[in-house]
Formats: sequence, structure tokens, C-alpha cells
Amino acid sequence: MAYISNDVINEIRNKTDIVDVVSKYVNLTKKGKNYIGVCPFHDDHSPSMSVSPEKQIFTCFSCGATGNVFTFVADFEKISFVEAVRLLGEKVGVSTQGNSFAVEKKDDYFEIYELANKFYQNSLFTSLGKNAIEYLEGRNIDKETIKKFGIGLSIQKVSLTDYLVNKKYSVDKLNEVGLTNDNGNDIFINRIMFPIYDLSGNPVAFSGRIYNTKDTSKYVNTKETDKFKKGKILYNYHIAKEHLKKNDTIIIMEGQMDVIRASTIGINNCIATMGTALTKDHRNILKNMANNIILCFDGDAAGEKATISAIELLEDTGINIKVVRLPNGMDPDEYIIKEGKESFLYQIESASNLIDYKMELLKKNKDFGNIKDISSYINSVISELVNEKDDIVIELNLKKIATSFNVNYDTLLDKYNDLKKKNKTVTKEVKPRKVYDKYGQAENNLIYYMLKDSKVINMVEKRVGYFPTKNIRQLSNEIIYYFHKYGIISVADFISYISDKEELLRTLKDILAMNIKEEFQIEEIEDYIFVINEYHKEVKINDLNKKLREEKDPLKQAKLSEEIMKIRGVKK
Ligand code: CTP
Ligand code: MN
Repeated sequence: MAYISNDVINEIRNKTDIVDVVSKYVNLTKKGKNYIGVCPFHDDHSPSMSVSPEKQIFTCFSCGATGNVFTFVADFEKISFVEAVRLLGEKVGVSTQGNSFAVEKKDDYFEIYELANKFYQNSLFTSLGKNAIEYLEGRNIDKETIKKFGIGLSIQKVSLTDYLVNKKYSVDKLNEVGLTNDNGNDIFINRIMFPIYDLSGNPVAFSGRIYNTKDTSKYVNTKETDKFKKGKILYNYHIAKEHLKKNDTIIIMEGQMDVIRASTIGINNCIATMGTALTKDHRNILKNMANNIILCFDGDAAGEKATISAIELLEDTGINIKVVRLPNGMDPDEYIIKEGKESFLYQIESASNLIDYKMELLKKNKDFGNIKDISSYINSVISELVNEKDDIVIELNLKKIATSFNVNYDTLLDKYNDLKKKNKTVTKEVKPRKVYDKYGQAENNLIYYMLKDSKVINMVEKRVGYFPTKNIRQLSNEIIYYFHKYGIISVADFISYISDKEELLRTLKDILAMNIKEEFQIEEIEDYIFVINEYHKEVKINDLNKKLREEKDPLKQAKLSEEIMKIRGVKK
């Protein structure tokens, strides 16, 4: 766990009741031993989420969401695991800060970045920062904004590396975190420094902009590290998230300067992709962030491309998407400077609905004097309308094209209905459930019962040589390790323990969502262990059989057969 020791996390969890906490967010009704309610993690109206006071976990049998009280709060509030621990810790009076017992040594990475961030910010206001300040003022960035976004300055004559080495960090470490190059010199030299924060608000990287030279690269960013992955971070997320409580709309821009400029006119719900394409990780972050998204990328061709691929990525999330396309290739920063606050606000307020934007896009490169082009346009519009849920929008759009192109409305409606019917049969997809063979099932069951009963841990430890599946193997190792360290294990605490190991957590969640029966007999465990150990025999036998088929020498053939029989346990 990154910040807080497991003992403290477990203490907070023990003092917290998951039923109390979840019922603050979701209406729960008692049903047998458990409580049930409507799952907040997928679009649903029937109660498919169950909360177990005994196990202190929740599980949705429809979407598979599961976890302990911390992951529930983290996912619901859109905060990190550590933040959720803090939040619940405060409620039960267990401090997670400033208490040497409570706090494990903070990761050097964050410390280094915090120091570097302050260092650059201080440098900006020294005499060597005069030109940089002038540059920023020239761009209408005032002191308040500089402070708000933590803007700083790297200066050739003032080495960050020296400063941090003096603070006892090794050059190797500074190199590893992306601040010092292989020769031991600063990476960032004479650049305006924009700190980039992770989702919890820790500075984890910088983007540095030139301001008084004509360097080939306008921006230089920290290299990707374990804490900074462009595909998983959104610029200004931690500030924008605060503003979403009042306004359920997030505006996505390309550059940090766009976000910063928007804030100067009082628009604070903006984030930036920092010039990269949106990723699936971004999508998951955004899905939990707001119900409405406005795409406001640069007005140029690249911005249009980015808009289209963002739509493709986000379309099926259920988020309501709108689009702003700024004129003359301008980015939001330029537009606000040139056209002013009111004009930009108008652009945002009058952002196009997705379907309107798509219809505009489809018009591109079409010659409406040409009947073929008209027909192809109408057909593609109808294909788009098939995915639209709002009946009124569908009708209005069909009427609009009927009038614009002088086509019979009923013809369009028939066409729409035909396509809709066809589409239904094609898109009626069932979410494929993972299918496990008998080995996989044995693995899943063993993990599940290890977390239920330490007898099973002992049996697995003594008798299972090696789980065939990597994630299961690691989970089992972690369970065994945890059990030896703490002498006791519960699934809820174990979830906290592996909360920063994404893949393992996912595997465990899959297992918890399988609805494996609670009660078990020792004989069943014996069977599962037998199956796992058989697996290795099978693999060996298959291997030997293959060799046997390829072997020409009868003597060697006999030897191989004998070996196979031995593994099978058959006497000659
Ligand atoms: N970017 C980058 N590396 C570059 C160029 C751009 O990482 N060489 C990222 C930066 O995060 C930048 C974003 O992509 O903010 C958008 O790039 P661009 O539109 O070129 O920059 P602007 O936001 O317009 O920045 P400025 O107004 O300062 O020129
Ligand atoms: Mn710009």
C-alpha cells in the first residue's frame, strides 16, 4: 500500500461497518443474512447488489462490481483508494497522517516531486525568472493563475539535481523519476514548468514549455514512469473534479494552456489530454467523473480527428456527449483571448448534440447537387439515427432531411424502421461470461476458500506445488504471505492489501462475483487440490506423448512409454 500501513487500514475497516456506509449512498433492504440494493456501478433499476455484513464486502451479481468498504467509497466518490481510507478514517477517528505509527514512509517519488515543484515555483519569482514572468504576462497569465496551477521555471544556472542531491536523493533515483538525465544533469532547462498531478492531486510529472528560444520541441514532458502514464492521467483532473460537484459536466481540451486560460474566465471544469489520444483508461476515469462531456479540442484538422476518435471511444459509455468546434483552427486559449469570455461561454452553452455534430460531419465532401451523394448522405444519417435513443430527436431529424432534400417522410421512416430491425438482431449481444475448465474452476474455488478458512491456506501451502495460472499463483502467494504476517485473514482486509495491484484485484473480483457457494467440505478441497496437481501430470504426459510420436528409435520409445505410465501411476 502506497501511503498508509496495513495495520491502520485494517483498523479503520474494523471500526467501519460496510452496511452503514453503503446505505448512505444506496437504499438497502435486509434479505436473509445480507442487504440488497440497486448497484450504483452500472445502469440498473433492479436490486442486484448484495452487501454482506459478515464478510464486509459488496458484490453485484449483474455487473460483477465487488470490493470492500474502501473500494466502494473510492469508486462511488471517484476518489483514490488512499483517499477513501483517509475519508473513512476521519469518520471513525483514526488518523492516517502525522502519526508515525499510522504513516508508512511516504514514497520518495512523491516527496521528490513535491520538492521539485516548490523549487521550480520559487525560481520563477527570482531575478532570473524575469523574462519568464514577462512571457506569462504577455500571455495574460497573472500571478493568481500562476499560483493556482503551480507554474514554475527551470533555469540552467540553478540545478534542480544539485538541490535534490543535497536533500539526500541519489542521482540514480532522480534519473529514475525523470528529472535528471544519464549524465547527471537536469532534464528541464530554461522552460516554464507546468506540474502534472495524478488523480489524487500529487505532482508526478512536469510539462516544460520554451519561452525565449526557438527550441525544436515546444513542450518537453517527464518520461513515462510507474506513476506518470499519459494514458492514465488527465491534466487538471483533481481540480476539475471538485467543481463537478456543482456542475455535472466535464470539458475536455487538448492542452494545459487551454485549461488554464478557461480557468481565468471562471470555467474550472476542464481537463486536458495533453495532446494524446484518449485511452480506455481515460474512458474509465471519465465514466466515473461526470454524466456530461463536452469535447472542446483545437479547431484544426487534428482537433477534428481527436474529436471523432474520442466520440468512438466514449459513445457507448452512456455519458451524454456534446461537441464544440472552434472556428479558424483556433484552440480554446486563442479563442478566449481573441473573442472574449462571453463568446466562449456561448460556444460551450450552444455545444452540438452528438447526432447534430455527426450529421454535420457527414455533409463533408458531399456534393448536394449530385443525387448519389444525397442518397449516400441520407443513408448514413439514418444509420446514425438507429443508435439514437430519443424518439423525438429521431423524428425531428427524419423530418429535417425530408424537407431539406424533398423526400417523402414515410420513405425515410420505413428505411429507418427496416434498419432498426436488422440492427436489433445483430447487436443483441450477450456479455460473454468467462468459461473456466476444471482446472480453472479448481483454482478459483481454492482461492475463494483460502480467504474463508485458514485450514485451506495450510492445505494449499503444503500440497499445491504450483498453480497453473499466473494471477492465481500470485494471489495464492499473497494470501499465504498475508496470513503468515497477520495470523488472520478476511476477504475485506485482503482487498485493501492488494488494492494497488490492479491485475490481482481484478482476478479476485472475478472470483468473488462468481457466486461460489459458501459452505464447503474438506473433501471438496482435497478434490480441487487433486485436480490442480493432475494438471501438471497432464502437461508432462502430453509433452512425453509428443516426444513419443516423434521418436524413431524403438528402445527410446519404450523408455518414454514407461515414463508416461509411471506418471500415470500404472505399474508395468
Ligand atoms: N504537447 C506535448 N509535446 C509537444 C507538443 C504538445 O506534450 N511537443 C502536448 C502539451 O501538453 C500541449 C498539448 O500537447 O499542451 C497540445 O499541444 P499544442 O496545441 O501544440 O499546444 P498548446 O496547448 O496550444 O500550447 P501553447 O498555447 O503554449 O502553444
Ligand atoms: Mn495554444
